[in-house]
Amino acid sequence: MKLRPKYHFTPKSNWMNDPNGLCYHNGLFHLYYQYNPFGICWGCMHWGHATSKDMINWNHEDIALKYDNEYDKDGCFSGSAIEKDGKLHIFYTGVKYHKIKYNEYNIPVQDDPNGFTPCQIHAISEDGGYTFKKILPPVIEIDTRYMHDVHVRDPKVFKTKNGFYRIVLGNTENYKNGSLIFYKSNDLNTWEFEGKWESNEFGWGWECPDFFEIDNNDVLVFSPMGAGSKEYPNISMYLLGKMDFNNFNFNIANKGLIDDSLEIYAPQTFNYYDDKQNKERRIIIGWIRMIKPFDDNEFCGMMTIPRECFVENNVFKTYPVKEFENERKGALNDFNNTKNLYDIEFKIKDNFDITLFADSSKKGLYLNYDKNNSLLTIDRKDVKYNGMSGLEKIEIKAKSGDDVRIISDISVVEIFINRGEKTSSFTVSPLGDNIFINKNELNNLNIYSI
Ligand code: FRU
Repeated sequence: MKLRPKYHFTPKSNWMNDPNGLCYHNGLFHLYYQYNPFGICWGCMHWGHATSKDMINWNHEDIALKYDNEYDKDGCFSGSAIEKDGKLHIFYTGVKYHKIKYNEYNIPVQDDPNGFTPCQIHAISEDGGYTFKKILPPVIEIDTRYMHDVHVRDPKVFKTKNGFYRIVLGNTENYKNGSLIFYKSNDLNTWEFEGKWESNEFGWGWECPDFFEIDNNDVLVFSPMGAGSKEYPNISMYLLGKMDFNNFNFNIANKGLIDDSLEIYAPQTFNYYDDKQNKERRIIIGWIRMIKPFDDNEFCGMMTIPRECFVENNVFKTYPVKEFENERKGALNDFNNTKNLYDIEFKIKDNFDITLFADSSKKGLYLNYDKNNSLLTIDRKDVKYNGMSGLEKIEIKAKSGDDVRIISDISVVEIFINRGEKTSSFTVSPLGDNIFINKNELNNLNIYSI
């Protein structure tokens, strides 16, 4: 069965992981991503590229970044973008492997997962983000005074309120705990080490750090390796608090998962000024991890629907951008023929049972609410597939009056409680396209087809 989602971005073919270089540049949104053009497994990392006018409908563009020199000869790993003087600047991790082996898909990968040398490369686009000129040698090469010699990567560049630029890198303190490395620059060309923050609370090494401010809160979104359970070690989290950049002390006021089902990894944010709304917006896109493709499908990996980021009651929340609501095509009336394309919203009233992606025998993805225990259970045991990366079943605390939003998109569902207080996503292999829902069990129910 063809299971390509309609709204969740997927590559035309082959493997995709992290979103990279997210930005609004020259009137378009740009989504770059970790891409293997040669196979449906991880490896041979390029930057794939897509553009959009509304963040919802994406056009596939040519590959934006290939490995082609002694510093990135085995891959262009993750990185970020910033606009300066009309040009788009990106910073990414170039890698060279110490020894290569060929995996079962005949893709060259590092023989030892810890056997490669990274560096941070600056590249500039003068044609609106379609092609890039690399500046070599790399702006930041390995300096073991400050960083690990292997696991330091994923530069996120941003402009500070004081007018200078910062890069934050994910690092490991010798496989014991994770750290952030900060570099600073006045012109994006020369960079100097600024400081380091480490913590032994969140696994052994950090990937894809993103550091930004919302309403006077400092927020770190990152993917700490080894911070989860034995079975699900690598997760995505946020920390919220105040960073003292004089002595690199991060005072953490709250922390949480980006996604309760642990399916999202390596999310990245960007900010831009929205002329229509007359305000700065911060948007996040995450990779919905797929370990393997669905049977008979030529893509592996999806992106979340872009989400607005905000902080409320000390909680970092993410919720689908308003633009997504333009895709609502009116009320969905036929629950037995939904094509699995719908957007549901309601308020919790009483106990309820909902089954999605269901066949006529009512097997599918189950949502069950137990009012006595204030517990929402989401269980995909009957619609799971063998490339699923997150949890089969989760339980979320929720109470009467809470808002629920469920966006179903062919083979993936994103579920939001209280406009992003809790979020979870699930890739599924549908048994059918029926919805079983009892309107009387819910308040303020709306179901739109999309
Ligand atoms: C996260 C990650 C990054 C790295 C990239 C390589 O998923 O491991 O740390 O840059 O993927 O594809």
